[in-house]
This record gives sequence, C-alpha cells and structure tokens, in this order.
Amino acid sequence: MRRDYSPQPLDLENMLSDPFSQFGEWFSHEESFINRDGDLSYEANAMVLSTATPSGMPSSRVVLLKSYSPEGFLFFTNYESKKGIEIAQNNRVALLFFWQKSMRQVRIEGVAQKISEEDSDKYFKTRPRESQASSSLSQQSRPLSDKAQFDKIIKNLAESNSEIIRPANWGGYIVIPQYFEFWQGGSGRSHDRIIFKRASTSGDTLWEIYRIYP
Ligand SMILES: Cc1cc2nc3c(=O)[nH]c(=O)nc-3n(C[C@H](O)[C@H](O)[C@H](O)COP(=O)(O)O)c2cc1C
Repeated sequence: MRRDYSPQPLDLENMLSDPFSQFGEWFSHEESFINRDGDLSYEANAMVLSTATPSGMPSSRVVLLKSYSPEGFLFFTNYESKKGIEIAQNNRVALLFFWQKSMRQVRIEGVAQKISEEDSDKYFKTRPRESQASSSLSQQSRPLSDKAQFDKIIKNLAESNSEIIRPANWGGYIVIPQYFEFWQGGSGRSHDRIIFKRASTSGDTLWEIYRIYP
C-alpha cells in the first residue's frame, strides 16, 4: 500500500459533520499503520493529558486512550495520582494526539468525569495480573524509597492465587469534549486547522465548524 507521507489538505466541505466521526476516521488511519508496517510499537492511542491546579499551574503526561464514543474519551489511572488530585480540584483538561506518520495532531479540550465503579471493575478484570498487581500496590506519584521491594511485592501478588480486587483509588475517567482541533501538516504549503466547537450542551449537540489560521 502507498505510504501516506503527503496527505491531502483538509477541506471544510470534506470534514465529517461531527468531531467523533472525524476523530474515528483519523484514528483508524493511524491504527492501520500497525497492520501496514507491522509496527507494533506505534501507539496511536497514546495521548497527552494536561491538567492544571486551581491556581493554573499546568502539568502533562501520556496516558492510553482505551475507547472513545460520542460520550467522550476514556482512560484509566490512579485517582490519587498528581493528575487525579488536580482533576478533583479542577476537572477542565486537555488531550493531545500527535500522529507523526501522518503529520497530524488532534487537540481536545473538555471536562473529565469519573466513570462508574462497575465500569472500572469490568475493565480492571480484563487487565493482565501483573498490571492489576501494580495498580493495586502503586501509590502513583508519591515518593518511593525502595523500588526493588516494590517490584518484589508486585511479582508475589501477580504470581499468587488470590484474586486481585480493583483498589478504590484506581479507575476510569471520561473526557467530555467541548472543543476539537484537527491539524494537518503538509510539505510546501501552509498547514490546515479545522475547529469543532460545541454550540449547545442540552438537547441535540451542535458543532460549530470553522477554519483558523495556521
Ligand atoms: C506510552 C505511555 C502510556 C501510559 N499510559 C498510562 C495510562 O494509561 N494511565 C496512567 O495512569 N499512566 C500512564 N502512563 C504513565 C503516565 O505518563 C504518568 O507517568 C503517570 O500516570 C503519573 O502521572 P501523574 O504523576 O502526573 O499523575 C503512560 C506513559 C506512557 C509513556
């Protein structure tokens, strides 16, 4: 198959009418690189999550997108981590996907909400035991004085026969977007930037769609 090094410019007329479908189209395109190139290390679902303290100090880190739908973008983490503490105080967050192979980025702004305990349980049960053990024992983002000891207790728990229960401080957040930017780079021409801005929050969701300067 042809490599997509110089993608088509973005055209307002050719954008899908809702940003989730548009995101889906781009995301499937990135996922196809895994099949096309056999590049298993390409994590198209890696996204940068930015949070901020109530006084406005931002921080960013990568998390993995587990699913998306018109309800929002789902990821899992420790609710008592730095990000979890910040979201508890200020649930306005930003997500960023950078898809280098296609010269694309998608920026999303919205609010993060915890998902139900049942849904977090359901996902936790699907995780490998090593990941379950790590999530259940890690005090994510707190000081750790003995890494070897931590690794040992994870291994012991993972190799034991006991069921590993999801800890109350671990679960999912769904990010409900208010704003999307689809950015398409191209060689030898100016970049394209198309915005989807949520125009109503009740009843039917309407999206205002417009182009901005590169
Ligand atoms: C590719 C990649 C995927 C990651 N996925 C997650 C994830 O899904 N959930 C998570 O809590 N941390 C994930 N991390 C680790 C985070 O980047 C971060 O170190 C951790 O969540 C603690 O962040 P905090 O101290 O800002 O809360 C991932 C890191 C990388 C590089």
